[in-house]
Amino acid sequence: MRMNYLVLVNKNFKIPDDYDISNHLVKIQNHYDKDHYYLIEENTYKMFEELRSDLLKNDNIRIELTSAYRSIERQQDIWNQFLELYGEEYNKTHVAVPGYSEHHTGLCLDIGVVINDELIDDIKLYDYDDINRVIISKLSKYGFILRYPEGKEDKTGYKYETWHFRYLNDVEIAQYIMDHNLCLEEYLEERCD
Ligand code: DAL
Ligand code: ZN
Repeated sequence: MRMNYLVLVNKNFKIPDDYDISNHLVKIQNHYDKDHYYLIEENTYKMFEELRSDLLKNDNIRIELTSAYRSIERQQDIWNQFLELYGEEYNKTHVAVPGYSEHHTGLCLDIGVVINDELIDDIKLYDYDDINRVIISKLSKYGFILRYPEGKEDKTGYKYETWHFRYLNDVEIAQYIMDHNLCLEEYLEERCD
């Protein structure tokens, strides 16, 4: 498969039937919880490690992976788990239907922040605005964008996620998107105009 780092997967666009990232995935052990492993596209991981080192060295912020590539079966498990916990309305704005998750691409990841040896992740991160701001300010330098920005819910279909980053393998495009406060849907629409 020819790599397409701009592939769009969202509520309207399912992961393409011929999308096969398996040869490009690497298996990574979690630094925080050594019993956990993740699969992730190789360049996405390489640049994530650079972002992680930069934040650790220069900002004393420790980020860790909490999710990366997911199979359709894994997304189904997550969907069921959250449905049971929070109900259908929550899932609609926070969890993708299996087959429609960007996590199937291998090109995105979720992070948590380790503070005093505790992993802060998911909606708990909303309480750490200052830290989120620093992390988000460095994303584009490494080819990442914030995939579900605040105020773009009508375009992305999801509530603001401070923790979900998408890798584009192109620093200029990532910078353009972040500097203009766009979501991926808006950028791709612009490109087609
Ligand atoms: N939380 C994102 C939208 C997903 O489930 O893929
Ligand atoms: Zn995510």
